[in-house]
Amino acid sequence: MSEPILSVSDLHVNYGRVQAVRDTSFDVPEGGLVTLVGSNGAGKTSVLAATSGLVRPRSGRITFLGQDVTRWSAHRRVSAGIVLVPEGRQILSTLTIEENLQLGGWRRRQSGARIGQMYDRFPVLAQRRRQLAGTLSGGEQQMLAIGRALVAEPRVLLMDEPSMGLAPKMVDEVFAVIESVRAEGVTVVLVEQNARRALTVADTGHVMETGSIAHSGPANELLEDPRVVKAYLGME
Ligand SMILES: Nc1ncnc2c1ncn2[C@@H]1O[C@H](COP(=O)(O)OP(=O)(O)O)[C@@H](O)[C@H]1O
Ligand SMILES: [Mg+2]
Repeated sequence: MSEPILSVSDLHVNYGRVQAVRDTSFDVPEGGLVTLVGSNGAGKTSVLAATSGLVRPRSGRITFLGQDVTRWSAHRRVSAGIVLVPEGRQILSTLTIEENLQLGGWRRRQSGARIGQMYDRFPVLAQRRRQLAGTLSGGEQQMLAIGRALVAEPRVLLMDEPSMGLAPKMVDEVFAVIESVRAEGVTVVLVEQNARRALTVADTGHVMETGSIAHSGPANELLEDPRVVKAYLGME
């Protein structure tokens, strides 16, 4: 086995007295697609926040390309290639689409060329580049959030609930984008409440329950694991 591109080891995240994540460890192989699924409040966003440097873990270690990045700032991690598409998209609605994409590239040379590639990839953004991002639909805003992250040239793309709140057709489009990004060689860590869809596209899955990983395995096996089916897939 080759070295993982990203490793999370013995991670603990607290917010004051709230223990959001405990004893959480997983590896992400280069070029892989790993998903974290689980109920609301299970700790998924907190794992991504610690990985991207937005929260300081209480303890544990994040290793990226063999380097311990646990104490690196979020900006330094973006420069190194760890890029987050945050929960709720967090695009800047009073800036234009173009300005939002430029924000993704502020640490990169040649970001103009990358922005051009995003317009090829997401024609809906190209048509509306001078419009305010707040005028986009929810699905279009998600495409913008993904485009902004891709302008930053991720090695590992962390995606937090990209299909949340979207109509079924847009959910299909978001998953198609995830698969194409992965096919281009970008490693993906996908957090989703839509566990069935996420496990269908992922190689490996981890099920989080109340702050820690309860089940892990090849995604296709988790899709048939009775404990996972009963708790997370049964209702669909
Ligand atoms: N900023 C915060 N302050 C206090 N508690 C938080 C904060 N963010 C998350 N939590 C708590 O941490 C736990 C894990 O939350 P989160 O990581 O957002 O889970 P998920 O993404 O799986 O829904 C929950 O109990 C949540 O209420
Ligand atoms: Mg979350």
